[in-house]
Amino acid sequence: MTVKTMQSADVKELLEKVAGFDKDGGNERMKKIVHRVMHDIFQIVEDFDVTPEEFWSAVYYVGELGANGEAALLAPGLGMDRYLDIRQDAEDEQAGLTGGTPRTIEGPLYVAGAPMSDGFDRMDDGSDTDAEAILIKGRITDENGEPLANAVVDIWHADTKGAYSYFDQSQSEYNLRRRIKTDAEGRYAAQSIMPSGYGCPPEGSTQQLLNHLGRHGQRPAHIHYFVSKPGYKHLTTQINIAGDEYTYDDFAFATREELVVAANRVEQSETGAQHGLNGPITEVEFNVTLVATDKPELQERHARRRALETDVA
Ligand SMILES: [Fe+2]
Repeated sequence: MTVKTMQSADVKELLEKVAGFDKDGGNERMKKIVHRVMHDIFQIVEDFDVTPEEFWSAVYYVGELGANGEAALLAPGLGMDRYLDIRQDAEDEQAGLTGGTPRTIEGPLYVAGAPMSDGFDRMDDGSDTDAEAILIKGRITDENGEPLANAVVDIWHADTKGAYSYFDQSQSEYNLRRRIKTDAEGRYAAQSIMPSGYGCPPEGSTQQLLNHLGRHGQRPAHIHYFVSKPGYKHLTTQINIAGDEYTYDDFAFATREELVVAANRVEQSETGAQHGLNGPITEVEFNVTLVATDKPELQERHARRRALETDVA
């Protein structure tokens, strides 16, 4: 079929009615966006000569995606999270707020309200005795290298099976999730276990689409961060552990060169000794530079639905 109908009066009128252009109520911005979305979908059907069978399989795919709870997993896989970061980076540049540690994607697995500690805490519950012990440490400074005391370093990561507490109900509450306040020197440290990378559920909706694109759904081992302090731009970022097969081939496009961090095995960690940790351990050091801003809206993480975060719809 090579018919072209998009320019016809019938289709134009249909799209306008679909978007409620002929109705007084509703939201003008929503009407314009839905009009554009539906126009573009119609256009795709025409340009690619999409068959009814293909169209309905796409509709049922969207239904299954929602039923599987994978919409927020497909989004980064299709580059959406990365694209929103690119836009925010460009906005920062326009506003003269460049510099500091780069942001990268948050992902859908944050849980609000992790225990808060001063300077140091242990993140794992000790139940995985085969795991590699790690010491996450670093310093939070401003752009002049001055230490930032009382910055909140909110860290979360997966276990050795690539699973996150809360979403994986077999783990204890807030396992591998902590908020640590920096000391007077801007330092934070956390004892934990080396996370594993992970992949999309092999039978899930996300992987199903990735298979059609010839893509894998794997992420390298990584550790998520929110870093915040009043007077500074909130930072959402994560580090990818160097040497993972997927460090530079992350299906969610989160890797940034400045965020690839080596894991170093040491016989005795100086930082560890300060917190009573003796013997060999793997150090993961991540220092963060925050950018000053007087804009309150930039000092907090942007609104989005997050587990156990109550003040966001
Ligand atoms: Fe993650």
